Amino acid sequence: MGKRTTKKTKRTPPLSAERLRSGWSGPAGTRIHLARPGDAAAADALMTTTGDEVRIIPVLREAIENGTAGSAILAGLGAGAEKFHNAAARSFSEHGLGGEALSTVCLVLVATDEHDQAVGVLTATAPGTLIQMATTNGYTPQKATALSVFVAKLHGIAVAEHARRQGIAAAMLKRAWQVYQQLGYFLLYGSYEADRDHLRAFYTRCGYTVYAPGEGFSLERIALPFGLHAGPGECMFTRWRPNH
Ligand SMILES: CC(C)(COP(=O)(O)OP(=O)(O)OC[C@H]1O[C@@H](n2cnc3c(N)ncnc32)[C@H](O)[C@@H]1OP(=O)(O)O)[C@@H](O)C(=O)NCCC(=O)NCCS
Repeated sequence: MGKRTTKKTKRTPPLSAERLRSGWSGPAGTRIHLARPGDAAAADALMTTTGDEVRIIPVLREAIENGTAGSAILAGLGAGAEKFHNAAARSFSEHGLGGEALSTVCLVLVATDEHDQAVGVLTATAPGTLIQMATTNGYTPQKATALSVFVAKLHGIAVAEHARRQGIAAAMLKRAWQVYQQLGYFLLYGSYEADRDHLRAFYTRCGYTVYAPGEGFSLERIALPFGLHAGPGECMFTRWRPNH
């Protein structure tokens, strides 16, 4: 009888807060990492290319500048989803349910070049519309806000013109997904103006389901009795945790 071989599955070590802070090597000599206070201005300038008057939400920009953005995320990485939920609950009870508290569950990644200049930015935030809809559907503000530890909204992603088509945006999206997966999120979603047609190719290529203009999707999979719908000139895109 031949030797029995057991197939070893390669285990990726869990992400640590330190890894998110120090970052990963990205394409074209970039480094992808959590935005630091000094990255805020350049990251905000890049965000303006994502649509009319789109900026990093002011309270989030302030949190980046004072080093508190994503603090609940940092507390959870390497420590497990429960630690993340506890850290978020603590910040919601300390700061109320407004933007300051929610900035602790926001993720802002930047890609910096060899001169340490930001050439890419990704911001993912609490799912504002979803929280609002949950409240309209009878959820208490606390329960509705708690959805922000299970669902995140991709608020914007941008790469400086001279650095495009080298895989930088795809790499930032991949890292954001890795962080959210580890924290136990079920869904990352977003929307874009339908006339920016190349974004369909971009999000599809990055593993997202892209809906037709004006179409929405149901949230039954996470037991919510409503869905999210795009405005008439908008396309939504989603990526669900496998088996959800
Ligand atoms: C959209 C954007 C972020 C993509 O950044 P990027 O770093 O150039 O994207 P990547 O190199 O990671 O692209 C990955 C894949 O997406 C697709 N893609 C990206 N840009 C594309 C384009 N302009 N046309 C068609 N497909 C495109 C391609 O399949 C690409 O892979 P390939 O180059 O091997 O063919 C960038 O074009 C940008 O900043 N645009 C302005 C801001 C914006 O519209 N943001 C999105 C709305 S929030």
